Amino acid sequence: MSERPAFYITTPIYYPSSNLHIGHAYTTVAADTMTRYKRMRGYDCYFLTGSDEHGQKIQRAAAKAGKTPKEFVDEIVASFKDLWAMLDIDYDHFVRTTDDYHVKYCQDLFQKIYDQGDIYKSEYEGWYCTSCETFFTETQVGSEHVCPDCGQKVERAKEESYFFRMSKYADRWLKFIEENPDFIRPESRRNEMVNFVKSGLEDLCVSRTTFDWGIPVPFDDKHVIYVWFDALINYISALKRFDNDDLYDKFWGAPCTHLVGKDIIRFHTVIWPIMLMAAGLPLPKNVLGHGWVLLGDGGKMSKSKGNVVDPRVLVKKYIVDAIRYFLMKEMAYGQDATYSEESLAMRINTDLANDYGNLLSRATGMIAKFQDSVVLAPGEPTEFDEELIALAKETPENFGRLMDEMKWQDALNELWKLVNKANKYIDDAAPWKLNKAGETAKLSSVLYNMVEVVRFVTVMISPVMPSTPEKVWQQLGISDRKDLHTWESLTWGAYPIGNKIDRGEPLFPRIDIDALDDMPIAGSEPKATAEPEKPACEPVADSITIDDFAKVDIRVVKVLECTKVPKADRLLEFKIEMAGEEFTVLSGIAQWYKPEELVGKKLLWCANLAPRKIRGIESRGMLMSVVQGDDLAVVEAPDLPTGSKLC
Ligand code: MSP
Repeated sequence: MSERPAFYITTPIYYPSSNLHIGHAYTTVAADTMTRYKRMRGYDCYFLTGSDEHGQKIQRAAAKAGKTPKEFVDEIVASFKDLWAMLDIDYDHFVRTTDDYHVKYCQDLFQKIYDQGDIYKSEYEGWYCTSCETFFTETQVGSEHVCPDCGQKVERAKEESYFFRMSKYADRWLKFIEENPDFIRPESRRNEMVNFVKSGLEDLCVSRTTFDWGIPVPFDDKHVIYVWFDALINYISALKRFDNDDLYDKFWGAPCTHLVGKDIIRFHTVIWPIMLMAAGLPLPKNVLGHGWVLLGDGGKMSKSKGNVVDPRVLVKKYIVDAIRYFLMKEMAYGQDATYSEESLAMRINTDLANDYGNLLSRATGMIAKFQDSVVLAPGEPTEFDEELIALAKETPENFGRLMDEMKWQDALNELWKLVNKANKYIDDAAPWKLNKAGETAKLSSVLYNMVEVVRFVTVMISPVMPSTPEKVWQQLGISDRKDLHTWESLTWGAYPIGNKIDRGEPLFPRIDIDALDDMPIAGSEPKATAEPEKPACEPVADSITIDDFAKVDIRVVKVLECTKVPKADRLLEFKIEMAGEEFTVLSGIAQWYKPEELVGKKLLWCANLAPRKIRGIESRGMLMSVVQGDDLAVVEAPDLPTGSKLC
């Protein structure tokens, strides 16, 4: 085994219930970038991703597609792997929760925790959101019986279940977080979780009996293990998949980072560490909860809005490295980011074509023209050299620190300070004037500095854009000089004197933003590996009489104001107007809409649903939405006066 320090990085394992979108691509590109960066810094880094294949949601999706769950997931998992290959994602292992080693390890761990008395049998009675695969209490779902996380209808569950004694570990968890403040990042999410645990931790229902697509409880095969209990274990089962414990010993004890979206932070920072505490296993080093990729023009991606951004289509239109760069640059640490094709194209034109690509092109172009393609030894410095060289020398340290902190946007901003400085340096030093004036000593310095900055930037950008460096090395004439592509080579002046450059094509052709829709898509449309989803609908409910129906009073209302409820990812607070009167109503639809896009709209509102308090705000009635699978859309009313009644 090598002596290099170990580092372990994971993405969540994705549900193979539908194809992945650009939001999922964000986490995986981030993990891949981090892995490549850590390797460049001398770490032996292990990168794990995979698929979370059990549970009611998958079982239903498979039934809808007329397939067995295993047939169904096999096809979708193949499409995941294709996507990761397209995005240049170089994982070490793809774990599937249906893999034998995972099933066995998961059962062993369940048994161990049961044997020591931390899992016990009881009866679960409450609510279940199949879309989130999460249990909720009466208070959490409220009188409308909707999931506080995704806003979809929850289902009543009453069944014999095994429970995990989470409550017993609350104090130990709080102490752990106090001693390891960096465990949950960013800090805002840590505070949320601490408040959550302090408000009282309940035991967790960890088995189900009403469906069978899951890992059987080892000592009671009427039960399958709760899908989240099963899924979280992947981070260890994947390392334990061989007969020996080499991988586990090396990577589970190492600094480890789970990259997850903010919606699943509770599972990773509360349930998972407590499972590990109960099992007597070490905890990971930290969990980073990143924000969501939202849509510039329509909030969260959803199939009903037809606005899901399919990375497979993007990679046929844009250079993969440019998509990766965009994702890493656009999202601030822990915050949401907005995606639109225009913003992607603009980012390509500005940062990549105008700034970085142009820097290379100017450097190679002028060396070809003024020095017959040969990079000469720097002669006499110009008055602008010192500042540029000083910035180049300090950038690796600043960039590296921010990369280590996983603040990718800040790291790239730091790097682009150097790119921009170099372009400004060329304008100031004006090599074309030096050439004209015959000041060859200064000219050779300027041209050398330009090449050396391009080399510095290219080494640092390589984890984000893994295919671009090779093109740059060719143009700089150092393809074979692997020693000049490394982090250690970032000492100013390493570029070989007398070397010949080989000017090539622009790295990033400019995109015509006005003609985005007409842009050619390379090759034919990718063949969907998964069957297109058939439209499904819930079974029609039992008959009611006209009198029953008349009890529900649904009116046209106008949205006057709409804001996000602080600290509630899913909730929007509406001020609505009906026949001159104003009401406040909350709705759990923040993941599908941005507040501003609903203001001024006329919607349908159930006026006589009893008011209820949510997060201290009294909510009157209920706004009508339609749901289909993971998609939701509010019901827009015809343009009639507010107060008009649905009949
Ligand atoms: N299967 C669970 C994870 C189990 S890990 C032990 C799951 N799967 S998922 O496919 O629904 O989501 C996986 C990840 O994708 C989550 O981290 C989620 O936050 C992330 N994203 C889903 N939509 C996203 C965006 N629009 N933007 C960024 N990340 C998003 O949850």
